[in-house]
Amino acid sequence: MATEFKLAPSILSADFSNLGYALQLCDDGGAHWIHIDVMDNQFVPNLTIGPPVVKSLRSKTNKFMDVHMMVIEPEKLVNPFARAGADLITFHIEATDDPQSVIDLIKSTGIQVGISLKPSTPLSDIEPYYDQVDLILVMSVEPGFGGQGYMEGSTARRREIKDKLNEQCLQDRVLIEVDGGIKLHNAKEVIDAGADVLVAGSAIFGSENPAKTIQDFYNL
Ligand code: DX5
Ligand code: ZN
Repeated sequence: MATEFKLAPSILSADFSNLGYALQLCDDGGAHWIHIDVMDNQFVPNLTIGPPVVKSLRSKTNKFMDVHMMVIEPEKLVNPFARAGADLITFHIEATDDPQSVIDLIKSTGIQVGISLKPSTPLSDIEPYYDQVDLILVMSVEPGFGGQGYMEGSTARRREIKDKLNEQCLQDRVLIEVDGGIKLHNAKEVIDAGADVLVAGSAIFGSENPAKTIQDFYNL
């Protein structure tokens, strides 16, 4: 098992009336990152967080803010989220006809760039960009909602990405993040199959003691 991985609690499953407390729980548990799910009710059938909320979160935490944009026309939101304090912005390959310009735009703001794809999108769609991104986010559920079950097929996809990164000597430069259905009972298997960053929402914020659950992830 990989000895080091980062846990990114997804605040999508936290109490939106008390996000400051959610940050506190992440601190108490010792989480590395905060995963922020941005949905526009067009790319996915749900509507969540915009730049003003990220700005408020930034004023309350120094943690690495991992913004997962599930939106069409991602280029329109890159600057607002970067200015709000995102450390990394991930966009979806399905959401744009011009992935290269989105990558260039995110880089131009000085923050890190991630690329993601839905479970049914061929890996060949993102392969041309492996050497240009900091992170590849592999969805293990259909994007849109927390609390879904882990899609087993995503394990083989991560292995394939890992192999390609190794072939291109990018394995130490590009992180693989997995998002959706990660629980305490399957986290070890997910890490073993090649994941550097685990996103977990309902497993953490749906538990009785979120700070302890974060620690339990690290103690696996
Ligand atoms: C789904 C989001 C996920 C979600 C994960 O579209 O991208 O980040 O919060 O939630 P869980 O961990 O409950 O599957
Ligand atoms: Zn996400």
